[in-house]
Amino acid sequence: MSSVIVLGAQWGDEGKGKIVDYLAQRADAVVRYSGGSNAGHTVVVDNISYKLRLLPSGVLFKDKVNVLGNGVVINPGVVLQEIEGMKEKGIDCGNLKISDRAHVVLPYHQRLDELQENALGKNKIGTTKGGIGPCYMDKVARVGIRVCDLMEPDTFAAKLKINLEAKNQIITKIYGGEPFEYEAVLQEYLGYAERLRPYVTDTGVIMDELFEAGKKVLFEGAQATFLDIDHGTYPYVTSSNPTAGNACTGSGIGPRNIDHVVGVVKAYTTRVGEGPFITELHDTDGPGNQIRETAHEYGTVTGRPRRCGWLDAFMLRYSARLNSLDYLAITRLDILDQMPVIKMCVGYKIGDEVLKRIPASLNVLAKAEPIYEEFAGWMTDISGIREYDKLPENAKKYLQRISEVAGVELGIVSVGPNREQTIVLKELL
Ligand code: GDP
Ligand code: IMO
Ligand code: MG
Repeated sequence: MSSVIVLGAQWGDEGKGKIVDYLAQRADAVVRYSGGSNAGHTVVVDNISYKLRLLPSGVLFKDKVNVLGNGVVINPGVVLQEIEGMKEKGIDCGNLKISDRAHVVLPYHQRLDELQENALGKNKIGTTKGGIGPCYMDKVARVGIRVCDLMEPDTFAAKLKINLEAKNQIITKIYGGEPFEYEAVLQEYLGYAERLRPYVTDTGVIMDELFEAGKKVLFEGAQATFLDIDHGTYPYVTSSNPTAGNACTGSGIGPRNIDHVVGVVKAYTTRVGEGPFITELHDTDGPGNQIRETAHEYGTVTGRPRRCGWLDAFMLRYSARLNSLDYLAITRLDILDQMPVIKMCVGYKIGDEVLKRIPASLNVLAKAEPIYEEFAGWMTDISGIREYDKLPENAKKYLQRISEVAGVELGIVSVGPNREQTIVLKELL
């Protein structure tokens, strides 16, 4: 048996898709356990770029089982569109399994996401406006509609009626928005239901079978540790738990089934949306801008420019503890190729006090300043290197220090978006 969780250790877009796709070569199954179409995972194979939102990053392989677990929220229109898009590229998603316990994103969730964001004004979260938060709100409020309900036309019709009436009240009376028409939503979703039916199953049974047969299972995290509803920079977070613990709850297995946890870490830090970001660079013609333009740091889903900054290794240390990280997969190291000086945050201080933990209070966090170490850059193209020992000394010094501050061994170093632009220090699966 071998199972590995691959998750984001920062604020998302670390390159989870790339690392999952790389590791999937040796895996039998890839399982998403949280989030929904707010994720945007890019996989590049033979210079062709695939942008995945709900589909697990194992879909590019014919023979892998791809699971959307109970912890995922499913937007049927998005997943069906992705399946169609893959078909056009000659990729068959026949091995996709969607949990009958997963919750369904409905049009009113999307509208409420927008209306709630607008109402927050300058305090907005900066969500992807995909209705993810409102869908999880319904799940926790125990009024959500699950995939199994969608599979039963009468049950779905009845639940939709009650929900739509309630949501229309909120949409019109609280926010002054446009209500939805029952029959139109009903017909749209009954249409989706029939197209989704072949993929829907009790994925818990599939998980049991995989483990009983000793198969290799990869858990693909979406979003990231500091977007976690419990452990992130609340309220500037997503509405689910991307952290390692939820790989179990979100896929219906026990913790004994997990062997290793890999934290995917960009060689610097980015964030989309609002919220604290201690190492953010605000320059327009300095290193922050250099990172954004070299790396083309614009959101996969929304196209928004990503906020860029130096690597926050203090955060990473916290992430390592929270997720029991065994290995780091450091991505986008090549983006720093032409950076003469690189900084890394190794701690936070408020005045003379050095912090031991990341404070819960955003008021306290706002006072924190980064403690930086400086590194000389390597000023050379590393994108063609495939062995760790062949990396420039300055690059190795930077990587070793990340590992040291985080307290986690290096597993993978990625030097480009393509599958083969990967340096393996440890076989993880
Ligand atoms: P995810 O959400 O964590 O899967 O990450 P995204 O796909 O949203 O963003 C990561 C971006 O970095 C994508 O465009 C990837 O193709 C790209 N990428 C991944 N690893 C590397 C790398 O090592 N070097 C470079 N230059 N790009 C990378
Ligand atoms: P991947 O899986 C980066 C951010 C949004 C916003 C906050 C809440 O590609 O790394 P939501 O729509 O989830 O309610 O938005 O979370 N966010 C992400 N940022 N990568 C992601 O996914 C994200 N998914 C959500 O920008 O700040
Ligand atoms: Mg992404």
